[in-house]
Amino acid sequence: MNADMQEVDAVIQRRLASDVVLINQIAHYIITAGGKRIRPMLVLLFSKALGFAGPERFELAATVEFIHTATLLHDDVVDESALRRGRETANALFGNAASVLVGDFVYSRAFQMMVSVNRMRVLEVLADATNVIAEGEVLQLMNMHDPDLAVDDYLRVIRYKTAKLFEASARLGAVLAEAPHDVEEACADYGRSLGTAFQLVDDLLDYEGTTTQLGKNVGDDLREGKPTLPLLVAMERGTERERDLIRHAIEHGEVERLGEIVDIVRHTGAIGATRDAARAEADKARESLRVLPASSCREALLEFCVRSVDRSSRVRRHQAQRSWRLEKRGVA
Ligand code: IPE
Ligand code: IPE
Ligand code: MG
Ligand code: MG
Repeated sequence: MNADMQEVDAVIQRRLASDVVLINQIAHYIITAGGKRIRPMLVLLFSKALGFAGPERFELAATVEFIHTATLLHDDVVDESALRRGRETANALFGNAASVLVGDFVYSRAFQMMVSVNRMRVLEVLADATNVIAEGEVLQLMNMHDPDLAVDDYLRVIRYKTAKLFEASARLGAVLAEAPHDVEEACADYGRSLGTAFQLVDDLLDYEGTTTQLGKNVGDDLREGKPTLPLLVAMERGTERERDLIRHAIEHGEVERLGEIVDIVRHTGAIGATRDAARAEADKARESLRVLPASSCREALLEFCVRSVDRSSRVRRHQAQRSWRLEKRGVA
């Protein structure tokens, strides 16, 4: 699997090339910053677990990473974020216009790559996923500064903006392997549940983690007035004074009282409740894997369920990245 991921990286490098200097510069800047490469690993693991070993898997693994990268370039502009993967964001370094435009380049390069695989079903899966991701980001924009957001509406956003690409990545493995319908759906279910767990934990780390651990600035969500589950639970469980403080912070996107809010989120048990919700999703993901035959790939996918919930706290960024890699888990 190590060799397979190297092949994916080779495709990524080859496919990033452009004659336009600024595109090369920015695209390489963000791609070489690292990242856990979880989505491409899902394509590889599911296709391999289901017996497909053709070269299209590398192309599609790189394609989903490109779609992910394009959404990050755009997301950091929208969120006005300054730090990503432990480095300055592309928008901080090159400006918003360049980030948006190079994001479009990376997106459309992903379209060229998926077309090259020459399968209508692949196009359908990825066209649907990119469209839903965009809907998720717009829904989230509409929810900004709304302390009365319903939990179901919050969950819809994370299913759209994050879980959909996990779902598509897992599904593509099954599509490549021409798996039966019920197997493809179980793979998709796994991706959707894992992605949901992953974003729930991402949202709690904004209150629990540190900037060094995450490689992005903590407190960003509050500054944006983003009503995530830790805040929604803390408001439900807190005293009237605590509720008012959080409401005000969401409405005005203020981080001045982040310390106090972190304390409230912690002592009301909102961190634990969010992690419990993530664990429930990870358990669902694990159940979906019943359809796969026993193999080292299946083991690695089971391990992702644990990782998605436990990633956090006292692990530094590079350790966290390493811990997702597969060679340690005997997936050769
Ligand atoms: C970041 O995704 C965006 C979210 C869905 C939270 P990752 O945490 O997979 O980002 P990288 O690729 O590893 O940096
Ligand atoms: C994740 O959203 C970005 C997408 C899935 C498009 P966030 O804004 O929550 O992620 P981070 O915290 O910037 O990585
Ligand atoms: Mg963001
Ligand atoms: Mg965002």
